[in-house]
Amino acid sequence: MMAQTNILDFRAPVNESADDALRGVWKDFIGSVAGIGKGIYHSDIEMNSVLNHNLVLVHSLLMNTSHYRELVNSSFRRLTRTKNWGWKAVYEDELGKTGLFSVYKNAPVPLHDHPGTRGAMMVVEGEVEVERFTLKEEYRRRNESGLVELQRCDKKVLKPYDVTWFGPDQCNVHGMQALTEQCVMLKVQLLQMKAERSWYFPVFSFEQDQEVLSARRIVSRYL
Ligand SMILES: [Fe+2]
Repeated sequence: MMAQTNILDFRAPVNESADDALRGVWKDFIGSVAGIGKGIYHSDIEMNSVLNHNLVLVHSLLMNTSHYRELVNSSFRRLTRTKNWGWKAVYEDELGKTGLFSVYKNAPVPLHDHPGTRGAMMVVEGEVEVERFTLKEEYRRRNESGLVELQRCDKKVLKPYDVTWFGPDQCNVHGMQALTEQCVMLKVQLLQMKAERSWYFPVFSFEQDQEVLSARRIVSRYL
């Protein structure tokens, strides 16, 4: 007997590739990330909601592939001799890339930026605390090391299916630390221009205020 076809049936063979799983939705999805900071959303709440729905959908579609499912279900081995965080690429084309990013307890990812690009992350497993900052405008064009000021955006604890994002200007700097042994996030990012990443070391002083953080910026892709 022929199986009944259902146009809304998203079930797919488990061994399909990420290309197959994302076909037909990737361009629209990347469009929703590309809209960060472009004024296409009426509010951050609306943008959060759209990104949240889309990331859940991308995650669900990718779970139909054995590769992604294995990555999600296998724990990432903590590589203390190299970096204290992990990245597993899942899909990339000329529009952007997606993959799984993992962080570990007691190994915070220091404040860093994503120069000129946009991205969104959704927690798949565990809990993470994310701090976001906006680099003050006068320091954005100068891609050099030195003292800078960061305007605080927020500090939030994210649980499974919660999202965070960064825009080209707004909240482009972030740092995070896992609150569980491991936290795995699905990350989607537009392809980055060839600008070097910077890392930001907070400079402590008694005058430090809650809203503006002074930090030493180190331009380095190798840190
Ligand atoms: Fe980042």
